[in-house]
Amino acid sequence: MRRLSSPITAVLAAVSTLVGAGAVALTSVVAVVATAPPSAALENGLARIPPMGFNNWNTTECRAVFHEAMVKGVADAFVASGLKDAGYTYVNIDDCWAEPQRNSAGNLVPNRTRFPNGIKAVADYVHSKGLKFGLYTSAGTKTCNRDGGFPGGLDHEQQDANLFASWGVDYLKYDNCNNQGRDAVQRYTKMRDALKATGRPIVYSICEWGRSDPKVWTWGANVGNLWRTTGDISDNWSRMVSLLKQNEKLAQYAGPGHWNDPDMLEVGNGGMTTTEYRTHFSLWAIMAAPLLIGTDLRKATPETMSILLNSDVIAVDQDPLGVQGTPVRAQDGLYVLVKPLAGGDRAVALFNSTDRPATISATATEVGLSEAPAYRIRDLWTDTTRETAGVIRAGVPAHGTALFRVGVDRWWPLYPPAVDLAVEPELAYPGATPIAMPGRPLTVTSTVLNSGRLPALLPRVDLAVPEGWTARATSPRLTPLLGRDRSFRTTWAVTAPGRPLTIGGVVYAKGLGAHAPGTIEYYAGGNCSAVRAAVGVDDEKDPNGSVAFQIWADGVKVADSGVLTNTMPAASLQADVSGATLVRLVTTDGGDGMNSDHADWADAQLTCS
Ligand code: GLA
Repeated sequence: MRRLSSPITAVLAAVSTLVGAGAVALTSVVAVVATAPPSAALENGLARIPPMGFNNWNTTECRAVFHEAMVKGVADAFVASGLKDAGYTYVNIDDCWAEPQRNSAGNLVPNRTRFPNGIKAVADYVHSKGLKFGLYTSAGTKTCNRDGGFPGGLDHEQQDANLFASWGVDYLKYDNCNNQGRDAVQRYTKMRDALKATGRPIVYSICEWGRSDPKVWTWGANVGNLWRTTGDISDNWSRMVSLLKQNEKLAQYAGPGHWNDPDMLEVGNGGMTTTEYRTHFSLWAIMAAPLLIGTDLRKATPETMSILLNSDVIAVDQDPLGVQGTPVRAQDGLYVLVKPLAGGDRAVALFNSTDRPATISATATEVGLSEAPAYRIRDLWTDTTRETAGVIRAGVPAHGTALFRVGVDRWWPLYPPAVDLAVEPELAYPGATPIAMPGRPLTVTSTVLNSGRLPALLPRVDLAVPEGWTARATSPRLTPLLGRDRSFRTTWAVTAPGRPLTIGGVVYAKGLGAHAPGTIEYYAGGNCSAVRAAVGVDDEKDPNGSVAFQIWADGVKVADSGVLTNTMPAASLQADVSGATLVRLVTTDGGDGMNSDHADWADAQLTCS
């Protein structure tokens, strides 16, 4: 069996129309421009839009790979890859840049191994590329690094600020570790004043994690340009979503010069799928979060770069109105987030936090647009502009986000109507996990819906399936005309690749195909007596596979095949499991790593009363 884990995406082609354009009166509408929340800003004139740049922490932490050449390489990558042109400006370094002790004059000393030429040399290099340079320390006696930390700025504020300014620092991240229980407002205000006294413009990033009482977002605007609202991000889906949920409630505190900071980006670090990284980037943009890249840009893949360089999404984040978007609806894990933009447009994110594909929709009124005959709607990930009569809708894959820019536009008849597509696989029962059996076609229904004001001419549906899969239309995929609010369904036979279990040339109709090492556990509740199976390494892999198969009855191993390889026929394995509460089928990697270890339990049978 195979789960439909890679989403089936459908592609709509050749949808265009100008039919009837003349029949619809054009109305020009004045857009309502929302005003920024009134919080007072720190008076340093900086960060009028959320800072964009890089910080090494998420990719290197304190490992030895963090050093001068790396930072310079990142600055080079900013220029070479177009990130600089896209608006990324700050090349920031995090913890572990310093020696563990101050010098005899009480000054911080750059780590001699990582930064043999000092910090100023790095800052000069970054500046020579037309970029800005950021540094890190903590509002405590030591920084946060788990190896004991490096000297912090508490009670050294002016001396450290002067040193940073003399090195050409443009951005300071001021952390919260080892703060000796002293008042947060006082600690952070003291560094604010010290930075100001240097006379150098330095963006001030408060890294207090939202711990103090009163909360940092209630006093942060007077003290810093941005403040962390959460603990640290990590490179996984659930952590990223949890930060979103904490940060999205705080929109009223953000504005030009003072931003909520849900922590730096993990895009490109490998712990999430491309769909999830697009969601991460879309949500940070709609929340007007700082966009600090946290991946090693010297090694970033084209896929990572295409996310980080999406200028339409960046423009949502960097919009001069400076309003943090908020959810207008959140139900059953499906979110509609809206960010008012300068000029009256709205950015709208349709975010599916669930594990199933879903169709999410909102109306133009709901997202705050004024009445109009139709609206311009731009999909910021597919780069297409269409017209909608008022519904903003998308079929969104599990963990995905559709991001739109929607606005009143009197030229709307020039755009093709917005059509969206829902794809529904046939399910064993309502709510079941969609399953495709290799070789056995699964029925999938696609539904195209026209939410444009005008009819769509000749819409045609293509179903894109993962490599090795096939999709065949079993009903027409083309229709001459699709009117407003009309839908068009196509059924598809989708076949997953795969072969039956085969060991030593013998084909088995049933059984369990697993990848070693692993454990399949059954609750037997004392009611089962025997297990038997023909076990072996599946023929589908090269001759390197080697697996040992074991049967366990509770804590006791009751059968062991010894190591079997691809070149061997199936072995018959059986065991008495009478009275066992749990029966476990265990596969080991045969002692040589898991490569090619496709472990088959063919004809597996558990006999129970
Ligand atoms: C804290 C911060 C992180 C990072 C580390 C460095 O955990 O929240 O962003 O700066 O310290 O030690």
